[in-house]
Amino acid sequence: RPKLAVKTSCVAAPEKQQVCTGVRRNENFGKLQAGYLFPEIARRRRAHQEKHPDARVISLGIGDTTEPIPRFIADAMQRAAAGLGTLEGYSGYGAEQGRGEVREALCERFYAHVGRKASEIFVSDGSKCDIGRLQMMFGAGVSVAVQDPSYPVYVDSSVIMGMTGGYQEGRGFGGIQYMPCRPESDFFPDLRKVGRTDLIFFCSPNNPTGAAATRAQLTELVAHARERGSILIYDAAYALYISDPDCPRTIFEIPGAEECAIETCSFSKYAGFTGVRLGWTVVPEALRYADGQPVIADFNRIMTTVFNGASVVAQAGGLACLQEEGFKEMTELVAFYKENAEILRRAFTELGFSVYGGTNAPYVWVGFPGQASWDVFATILERCNLVTTPGSGFGPAGEGFVRASAFGHRDDILEAVERLKREFRGAK
Ligand code: MLT
Repeated sequence: RPKLAVKTSCVAAPEKQQVCTGVRRNENFGKLQAGYLFPEIARRRRAHQEKHPDARVISLGIGDTTEPIPRFIADAMQRAAAGLGTLEGYSGYGAEQGRGEVREALCERFYAHVGRKASEIFVSDGSKCDIGRLQMMFGAGVSVAVQDPSYPVYVDSSVIMGMTGGYQEGRGFGGIQYMPCRPESDFFPDLRKVGRTDLIFFCSPNNPTGAAATRAQLTELVAHARERGSILIYDAAYALYISDPDCPRTIFEIPGAEECAIETCSFSKYAGFTGVRLGWTVVPEALRYADGQPVIADFNRIMTTVFNGASVVAQAGGLACLQEEGFKEMTELVAFYKENAEILRRAFTELGFSVYGGTNAPYVWVGFPGQASWDVFATILERCNLVTTPGSGFGPAGEGFVRASAFGHRDDILEAVERLKREFRGAK
């Protein structure tokens, strides 16, 4: 056993020696470029606030919900929490896969019409956590493709797992297939140029571009995965924001997807559950590994091994979200954030920028051709006291864009728009 060693080489300050263990660091952390995107943005926001203590900074940055959880849903959680303090209402560990009623209600609401069963739905503490668990399940030996730009969790978790090489400026991580999604191709990748990978992460409506894939595009994607024997990890976290009837709300609307896709989704952006934590992942029984073993058996093994079931209180809230009254409230909340997105969209358009997304998603994707995203981020922060998210944080093809999130109080969104107009009118 290596002994604890006092090393001068791990000294933080000369006067204070640190004690190091004999444990080698997972070298993959060294490949990551900086902190995770959103904490990095928060750090820059704090630095700006320290420099300008009187500034009222408004965030259009991280997609974090701001409005209260609607009444019917909040009441259900209150009752569940109060129940835990009584003999009759108390419960300990629940099923690791989630409460039966919640799985049934999710199935009824979102999946029964596309042939999925409640037993294929695993209730969890959120999609982000499930992505981590899926990575653990598939292990480090698989290859990965991602939309470029995409939600950074797919790439960063692949790096941490050891599936990638090092980072190259402007190109991303070696070993990852980046599938460029640019305005000129309707933010859908040219699949003819994509080599085979084991896993394909695909998010629709997309975070960050806000583009929702059409039925025809998803049919092409499913055909691509099936032909190559790949598994799609389909992130539908914003599906309820889709208004366009030509854009499916679940990948399982596409025939054959049950043999090549896993879908993950969440109440976070539907019901303001970013803090409550409740999501789910659908693993069809028909999805098989190369040797014919069912993937669902391994996902069940992962959930029962490293997860103890979602919180009792959160699941009571989730159940309420799926009942008529809660579903109506949730839909109204989504409509509110979509109105915010429309306000942002209109403002950036009026200012003469190229604007994408925002109609089927809570994100507006704004082009600043020829400029570095972090520079644009810094300019908007400096001049308007507004936090955005630099597009390059989502992948090499995000360079030259920033993302504006529609999650905010209405007054803040209106104020943000006023500031943008004041600073950028006539700039284009
Ligand atoms: C985002 O801003 O992209 C999201 O809020 C991050 C998340 O959902 O984890």
